[in-house]
Amino acid sequence: MNKARKFGRTTSISEAEVAQRVDALLAKMSLAEKVGQLNQVGGAEFAPGPRAEDQIRAGGAGSVLWLNDTKKFNELQKIAVEESPSGIPLLFALDVIHGYHTIFPVPLAMAASWDPSVPEKSQTVAAREARAAGLHWTFGPMIDICRDARWGRIVEGAGEDPYLGAAMAAAQVRGFQGDDLADPERVLACAKHFAGYGYSDAGRDYDPVFLSETQLRNTVLPPFKAAVDAGVATFMSAYMDLNDVPASGNRWLMRQVLREEWGFEGFVVSDAFAVGNMVIQGHAKDRRDAALRGLKAGLNMDMSSYTYTENAADLVAKGDLSEAEVEELVRPILALKLRMGLFERPYADEGLLEQVLARPDHREVSRWAAQRSMVLLKNEGGLLPLQKDIQKVAVIGPLADNKSATEGSWMVFGHQPAAVTVLAGVRAKLPNAEVTYAPGPEIRRDIPSWFESMMAGYSPKPPETPEEADAAFQAAVETARAADQVIMVLGETDLMSGEAASRASLDLPGRQEELLQAVAALGKPVVLVLLNGRPLSVNWAAGHIPAILEAWEPGSEGGNAVADILFGDAVPGGKLPVGFPRKGSHAPLYYARNTTHSPEGSPMYNPRYWDGLPTPLYPFGHGLSYTTFEFSNLKVSMPQVKLGGSMTVSVDVTNTGKVPGDEVAQLYIHQRWGADTRPMRELKGFERLTLQPGETKTVTFELGPAELGYWSTNASQWTQDAAAFDLWVGADSLATLQAEFEVVG
Ligand code: GLC
Repeated sequence: MNKARKFGRTTSISEAEVAQRVDALLAKMSLAEKVGQLNQVGGAEFAPGPRAEDQIRAGGAGSVLWLNDTKKFNELQKIAVEESPSGIPLLFALDVIHGYHTIFPVPLAMAASWDPSVPEKSQTVAAREARAAGLHWTFGPMIDICRDARWGRIVEGAGEDPYLGAAMAAAQVRGFQGDDLADPERVLACAKHFAGYGYSDAGRDYDPVFLSETQLRNTVLPPFKAAVDAGVATFMSAYMDLNDVPASGNRWLMRQVLREEWGFEGFVVSDAFAVGNMVIQGHAKDRRDAALRGLKAGLNMDMSSYTYTENAADLVAKGDLSEAEVEELVRPILALKLRMGLFERPYADEGLLEQVLARPDHREVSRWAAQRSMVLLKNEGGLLPLQKDIQKVAVIGPLADNKSATEGSWMVFGHQPAAVTVLAGVRAKLPNAEVTYAPGPEIRRDIPSWFESMMAGYSPKPPETPEEADAAFQAAVETARAADQVIMVLGETDLMSGEAASRASLDLPGRQEELLQAVAALGKPVVLVLLNGRPLSVNWAAGHIPAILEAWEPGSEGGNAVADILFGDAVPGGKLPVGFPRKGSHAPLYYARNTTHSPEGSPMYNPRYWDGLPTPLYPFGHGLSYTTFEFSNLKVSMPQVKLGGSMTVSVDVTNTGKVPGDEVAQLYIHQRWGADTRPMRELKGFERLTLQPGETKTVTFELGPAELGYWSTNASQWTQDAAAFDLWVGADSLATLQAEFEVVG
């Protein structure tokens, strides 16, 4: 399972020199300074606690977050380097999740590309811009597996599947960190939230998580392991209780799994205030106890709860903690700062950001990433692509000209939404057409998000009155009536998914579906474009609207990318990284589940609910194209493979249509019996390929212990069984082209 470790790679300093210089630094640092390196200071006014400058000057800070100001970075760095006792430079950190200034599709969208080069190239640009601004460290990739779309943070991850999630995690680490930590265009990455956060009860953000070791080992942890194998520099511990132990005080996670088993050599930062929160969560007796639990559990850095700086000296003085244990937690932090060259180059070039942001290729990458992330859910009668000679197009919906909904959640502080909206993209695509617009009634959360008050230029608008909503509704219907083609842009605002943005329903918020029905009743051709950060139960649209494009939250160039696809300048090739439930109450819903004693087709078949089938509206891996493909000639290299051995699976994919397009060949396996019951299907290979009309390519996958092994409840260890397997290769998780093979002892 262990691939070549890439941790800490740099050409700027040897590991021997790193170790020698860390020892030398520790030898002259006071205990207070050592603890200071374990302290991450909040740089924003909303962050409680002592002033950043004072903490830094005293050598009581190793890092600053929640600040986005190059000049201020240099001011604080100057205090650290020139005025603190040991002059150790600070790490400046921020959530650059899908773009710093040039915004990319949200991570769930990037996963929908099923193309690791999309997150890798996107995060490469994000790192270049963030570093030019003076940031050293991003709190990404977020790689929490999630199978409950009610959870708002599903938008930040790679969906429901560990195999796809692992590929996307490694790609993001490569994008952020590159091959050399001393590269002045890269930042440290941070695998978060370790671990299990995506399983919060019923999708309720921050709620406790209860997971078996089997679920953790087989589903939740593989993307984190992939991040370690990709050389990720840091981890972040999650907020919630995992099996009654908060992740930030969880020795099993941070010492046994992360360090003893995986050999992780970087450091772990808590989530915001999470060490101090262990008192609130009823886990720690008081802040001193919370600090001790975090330190003993192997949590290196306290994000702004200040429990470490408040209590570590007393913990050492009273013998609860040794100075050697503190030093063990400080070492990786100093080592990473040395590998980044921060001691030699601590300051940002205050003129660099402007030059970097002027690069035209950055928006080109954003548009390309958005095109490759979009998923064509439906295209009845080939309505799409639309012709460019249309004269009158109505673009309707509350998100049609909404910049922040187009860019999505997790914008960095101070960012002003500047996306090309769908309306702007359609108008740019059809300069000679009459492109009208009407938003229809507004949509808003029933309960506002506390994040709103933190947004730049926050000014709470009073809700629309019923009369205003009715007027907007009618205006939208009349605008549609006057057009030849209608493009509806519906979904969720950026505040309706993300952190503290869970919801019980997956329906279109507000009166959007009512408006869609009223517009559809006009009898005009209607295309639905979805802008959203989670799967939505668009059941009515799926049954009545001929063409539906899932555009997610596509970023700075989102509107142009939508127009490229709607009018055929780009062919959709994305696939769903998470299934779309018919109802929120069907969650958790996932394809890789075990069957039952009464499966579909059996005489005692129980349809699971008597009030409707819980099958997904759109399954995992689903996505259409403007052309068609055929899978054929499925072969296994051998009908039997020895336990521990490997085999290959090959399949031909042909473009049987008239235009070039992308297909994603997906390989699923099913182990028919074993030490444990295994899921009906599990993704164990995928490849996105571009095919010209009539072209055939042969795709080959390898299946070996890494793909066929699993963590067994029965054996309580990693195992591989001698058993018979089915496999399928096709265009989604319902693939029917089937073969079989056997693993023999
Ligand atoms: C937030 C999030 C985490 C983020 C951190 C710093 O509450 O949970 O993902 O990186 O605080 O902003």
